[in-house]
Amino acid sequence: MIEPTTKKVINQRRVFVKYLPFMLAGTLSYPAGKFIFFSEIKDQSFMIALNKIKDGMTEIKKHSVYIYKKGNKIEVLNAHCTHMGCIINFYKKKDKFICPCHHSEFSISGKVIKGPAKRNLVKIPFKIKHETLYVS
Ligand code: FES
Repeated sequence: MIEPTTKKVINQRRVFVKYLPFMLAGTLSYPAGKFIFFSEIKDQSFMIALNKIKDGMTEIKKHSVYIYKKGNKIEVLNAHCTHMGCIINFYKKKDKFICPCHHSEFSISGKVIKGPAKRNLVKIPFKIKHETLYVS
C-alpha cells in the first residue's frame, strides 16, 4: 500500500512533468524573443548637416555607423562587425577599425585586413541634399 505522503509526491511529480514542456518553452522563448524583438540593431536612418561632419572618421553611436569624410569624399559604414555583429572601434593612430570581440581588423574603407571576419564592412547608402547628409 502506498502511503499518503508518497502519493502526494507522485502527484507533484506528475504535475511537474505535465507542465515541464510549457516551462521549457517559456524559458527558451525568452532569449529567442529578446534576440528577435530587442536586438542591438539600431535604426540607421538619420540626417546630419554636412558642416557638422569633420574631415576624418566620425562615429554616430546612436545609429551604429561611422562616417568617413575626406574633402568631398564621404563614406558611411555600418559599425557592426561582419563576423558576429559586435560594434567595431576606430583607432585613429592605427588608421583602422578593430573589433573588440575577436579582433578582426578593417581598413578605413571597411575592407577586411585580418579575420576571422571574411566580409568587408557594409557601406550604407546616403544622399546629400541642401547641405545635409541623409543616411538610409
Ligand atoms: S564579432 Fe568581430 S571579430 Fe568576431
